Amino acid sequence: MEKYYFTYEDIHKTSLDIALRVKASGFEPDVIVAIGSGGFIPARIMRTFLGKPILAVGVAYYDADDKPSELPRMVQWIEEAEKKLAGKRILLVDEVDDSRTTLEYCIRELMRHKPAEIAVAVLHNKLKAKEGVIPTEVRRYFAGRDIEDRWVCYPWDAQDIDAHGASAALAAKASEKTPA
Ligand code: G4P
Ligand code: MG
Repeated sequence: MEKYYFTYEDIHKTSLDIALRVKASGFEPDVIVAIGSGGFIPARIMRTFLGKPILAVGVAYYDADDKPSELPRMVQWIEEAEKKLAGKRILLVDEVDDSRTTLEYCIRELMRHKPAEIAVAVLHNKLKAKEGVIPTEVRRYFAGRDIEDRWVCYPWDAQDIDAHGASAALAAKASEKTPA
């Protein structure tokens, strides 16, 4: 099955599009929370347009006995950061909404810190049956693009960025020939 290839320029433009939609919705975040590591770069780009500070969280896939687990078990962040979330409007950013498991886990963890509101922004939402659920408290969800359930190759994962760019250009050409 064909993969998606997105370039840094694509990611930048999609991040701008999301930021504009966040603004247009009337949601003014106090803080951006980036889910590492895929959410780091989109969060940083959105900061250019939204001008808000970024806190980073990471999800660890191990349990209390340090055994590997299938599900996200632990959110890692600096304790100081937690204190800053009460009463705040949070824009939670990740690169892709796939199974939604990590997203749900992070939202529930953040809710424990009693923010005023959490909105979610992802570059890409895969249209598929989701394992995770976005809690009803989250009233704003922004997806840069809804995409098919195919693997996405992000530029920051590329070993060879020129080859990645060439694959992205080829895919763009192919999609020109076969309009949706
Ligand atoms: P979700 O809640 O955001 O849907 O994430 P899920 O737990 O389903 O995803 C598990 C990991 O797989 C995540 O990375 C996610 O970014 C990654 N992933 C899912 N689909 C794709 C894809 O099409 N392309 C790429 N490149 N990654 C994908 P993670 O374990 O949190 O690591 P990181 O890469 O963000 O550091
Ligand atoms: Mg990720």
